[in-house]
Amino acid sequence: MAVKLDKVVPFGRSFDEYVRMFSLSETELYPLSETELYPLSDFAQKSILSVADGPASFNAEGTEYGCKIQSVDPLYAFSGDDIRDRFYAVCDNIIEQVRLTPDDWVWRYHRSPDDLKVRRSRVTERFYQDYDLGKQQGRYTLGELPTLPYADGAYDLGLCSHFLFLYSQQFNRAFHLAAVLEMLRVCKEVRIFPLLGLDLVRSPHLPFVIQQLEQSGYACCIQTVDYELQKGGNEMLKITPSHLP
Ligand SMILES: C[S@@+](CC[C@H](N)C(=O)[O-])C[C@H]1O[C@@H](n2cnc3c(N)ncnc32)[C@H](O)[C@@H]1O
Repeated sequence: MAVKLDKVVPFGRSFDEYVRMFSLSETELYPLSETELYPLSDFAQKSILSVADGPASFNAEGTEYGCKIQSVDPLYAFSGDDIRDRFYAVCDNIIEQVRLTPDDWVWRYHRSPDDLKVRRSRVTERFYQDYDLGKQQGRYTLGELPTLPYADGAYDLGLCSHFLFLYSQQFNRAFHLAAVLEMLRVCKEVRIFPLLGLDLVRSPHLPFVIQQLEQSGYACCIQTVDYELQKGGNEMLKITPSHLP
């Protein structure tokens, strides 16, 4: 189903926020120099598929740093100007909603609602500057869960930030399971953040999804990470085939 821009809140996160949300290590992100070559493939740079990446600047910044990042999102049906205009159309209203719910947020990484606005605007501009070139280079692809336009095992690591589990009221548990299984078809490992819904409660779909995945031979691990903006939202789900650590 095509996404409608006037229904989208195109708030994106930065590369540094992705590193924290997904506990990404330097060896996963960056190419090794020749002097650092390790015989073990575990230490090799990972190819990353960032699903529901939207207007995040993870791809723009990461590509500049030498990371291998592919983004996929239904939002990429729209032009950069449309996405940027939509951000500025909704930004003040969202920040005002945040200001009116002070107990729902942790002001540690982001210092205040005003700081959040500055950082989200910076991310939007960084995404906007990279978007047309990234599209030409094939780094931003139109696509949506639960069907991804990639071959089996095409990526080492799949990430999904602020889509699965967050919108638990809009998408049911069958959608969540199908979406995660599709990410696992395409990616050797999958990480999802956060595990809370918009109501700040752990997604009711999480136990079902974990149980089904474990029955299908995957290992699921909930890790606490060094990032929390939604109060209580500092957990990430890591899914691997059960023979891997
Ligand atoms: C809140 S934004 C998160 C953007 C980015 N991941 C981040 O954390 O900064 C949610 C994103 O999910 C995307 N989305 C909506 N439906 C989707 C679907 N069925 N499959 C993949 N992405 C979807 C939206 O277009 C939007 O870009």
